[in-house]
Amino acid sequence: MFNNNFLWGGAIAANQCEGAYLEDGKGLSIQDIMPNGIVGAISEEPIEDNLKLVGIDFYHKYKEDIKLFADMGFKVLRFSIAWSRIFPKGDELEPNEKGLEFYENVIDECLKYGIEPLITLSHYETPLHLAKVYDGWRDRRLIEFFENYCRVVFERYRGKVKYWLTFNEINSVLHFPLMGAGILTPKDKLTKQDLYQAAHHELVASALAVKLAHEIMPNAKVGCMVLGVVNYPMTPNPDDMITSMERDRDLMFFTDIHVRGKYPSYTKKLFKDLGISIKMEDGDEEILRNTVDFISFSYYMSKCTAKDINKYEKGRGNLTSGVKNPYLKESEWGWQIDPQGLRYICNYFYDRYQKPLFVVENGLGAMDKLVEVNGEKIVLDDYRIEYLNDHLVELGKAIEDGVEVMGYTSWGCIDLVSASTAELKKRYGFIYVDRNDDGTGSLERYKKKSFYWYKEVIKSNGENLK
Ligand code: BG6
Repeated sequence: MFNNNFLWGGAIAANQCEGAYLEDGKGLSIQDIMPNGIVGAISEEPIEDNLKLVGIDFYHKYKEDIKLFADMGFKVLRFSIAWSRIFPKGDELEPNEKGLEFYENVIDECLKYGIEPLITLSHYETPLHLAKVYDGWRDRRLIEFFENYCRVVFERYRGKVKYWLTFNEINSVLHFPLMGAGILTPKDKLTKQDLYQAAHHELVASALAVKLAHEIMPNAKVGCMVLGVVNYPMTPNPDDMITSMERDRDLMFFTDIHVRGKYPSYTKKLFKDLGISIKMEDGDEEILRNTVDFISFSYYMSKCTAKDINKYEKGRGNLTSGVKNPYLKESEWGWQIDPQGLRYICNYFYDRYQKPLFVVENGLGAMDKLVEVNGEKIVLDDYRIEYLNDHLVELGKAIEDGVEVMGYTSWGCIDLVSASTAELKKRYGFIYVDRNDDGTGSLERYKKKSFYWYKEVIKSNGENLK
């Protein structure tokens, strides 16, 4: 099922695990003033309640953590570079050497164990200065700041890092403009024009990053990264089917441009209906033709769509929500669990593009309990093993269907701060971190039952999946 080069591993993001939010010259990022994730108010300044300021202290513990990942047999580690460690404000010309050194050490530590680094260039952590002064990606000038940042990290890490992702869940810009694009103007004051214009800037920046990466590192493979959600029509009513097609396009708009290198034909009508006219500059169309080498995505859940969603019970979900599917169970946070949706979305992407796929996020956020068994502290997380097993079985089926899948990185392979709710009690890891929502805890790491299970999955190349 899984070929011998299949990249098994885990994924983390700088702002959710590193902490050290001001250390070694780092500037502030938007996350430092988002103590409540996307669900509450932002703060004027970083406040102690913001768990991300300390995270799980990966900044100081990365050696210990990467050793644990190596112990599980990871072939790949997905992590992000905090732009504000390299360019504290974002618009400087000269980088912060200490920031560059930190990621170089993380990369070297991975390579020491034969773990391939897979680096996200922007994972919900736009430098705060760019948000305050430019209103984030609404301003076209961010393209050149981002290009400069990319050039610096590509030149520094060439020869060491082969796999790169541009923007984490780039489609989130339309739903969560602060997190996805560093836009401080509240969403209710933004028009569709503003949102799609910001998306255009990110798309151009993403294509420029692909171009630069290929020039500087001819062997590099660069992927786009989208929030992958499957939309099922709630009923066979053709109205619901058309709604489902439209919701799919909210996502496919981003992959279409990344893979085909141009705006899709349906945007003509869409933009006309929404009164949108994208301001393009000379050369933008040509830049967009720098297409990605692969498509990466997160997958946690599916949702149902209906023309009239008010007729049904609403569901909750990862940054987007729809109508509850009566056939599915849900997580403690109300995300509906649908392993077959992973097989479906893999086939959907592959049928449409015939590009290799990389599942770079998938996992179960759950409340874990640390217990003692035979003198060892452990979490008996059979629920997580079940979730991951079932998704991997479906991923295997997608591969049998003929889909080309490069790898799989389970989200939050070590417990970290949640992006949407900024909690620590929503845990995804194979490794438990002793830190609580009130900020207490020793930061000690403990292996969960799933740690041993995933180690076996990797060792057997998926043969032990049931
Ligand atoms: C994805 C993000 O949307 O989902 C991650 O890329 C995030 O940053 C993950 O952590 C899980 O979501 P949450 O809200 O449970 O942390």
